[in-house]
Amino acid sequence: MLNNPLVEVKHLQKTVSAHFGLLKILNGVNFAIYTKETIAILGASGSGKSSLLSIMAGLDPEYEGSVHLFGQELKDLNEDQRSALRKNDVGFVFQSFLLIPELNAFQNICLPLEISGLINPQTTDFANSLLTRIGLSDRSNHYPATMSGGEQQRIALARAFITKPKILFLDEPTGSLDTENGQRIIELLFELNQDFGTTIVMVTHDTEVSQLCDKVLTLKAGSLV
Ligand SMILES: Nc1ncnc2c1ncn2[C@@H]1O[C@H](COP(=O)(O)OP(=O)(O)OP(=O)(O)O)[C@@H](O)[C@H]1O
Ligand SMILES: [Mg+2]
Repeated sequence: MLNNPLVEVKHLQKTVSAHFGLLKILNGVNFAIYTKETIAILGASGSGKSSLLSIMAGLDPEYEGSVHLFGQELKDLNEDQRSALRKNDVGFVFQSFLLIPELNAFQNICLPLEISGLINPQTTDFANSLLTRIGLSDRSNHYPATMSGGEQQRIALARAFITKPKILFLDEPTGSLDTENGQRIIELLFELNQDFGTTIVMVTHDTEVSQLCDKVLTLKAGSLV
């Protein structure tokens, strides 16, 4: 079992309908991701990076070809089955952070625990330690509207990590951050990878960051180059 890939993508194609007809946004993509790997996905804007990430994370089952996550073909599962597969084991940080405006920083981070009935002193301690690691321990009771884009992005990262997922997907995790905070997030990601064996799959435009990763996948117009 040890050497089975966490994610296996074969002949993946994704077609969407645009106003001028059908548009192929992923075109014959093949690769595999193994436990504890760190993967960077590079490519120009519009090359299909976010689309690929959503499919791998089980958020978009509308594709042709084959995509296995934890050994299961995602398009064969219904929404409930996909959400059960993701629960606790898959973290996702979106390009737009999707924090809940009515919840403060701490509550946003703890939301996945709340949903899974995992709130206890140990997990809330972990939430506090993540707040410290992202440099926002003094913002615990601040609401998203009162935080900068970079601060919101760091909260979204802590929320994605709160259940210690097996695999963490991130769409440009340093996109809204200055160099110092960006570096902090990247260091944190590699620490989480080392400390918890979390597999990291991140879209980035930063070639310095991609050089730190075990593998780099570069998309060009929907194909790997
Ligand atoms: N639902 C959709 N309907 C029509 N076109 C779509 C849809 N989703 C994505 N696209 C198009 O598919 C292409 C790939 O989009 P995607 O968001 O994956 O790019 P990206 O590589 O993440 O770009 P960026 O770096 O700007 O975030 C783009 O040309 C986009 O306009
Ligand atoms: Mg994108």
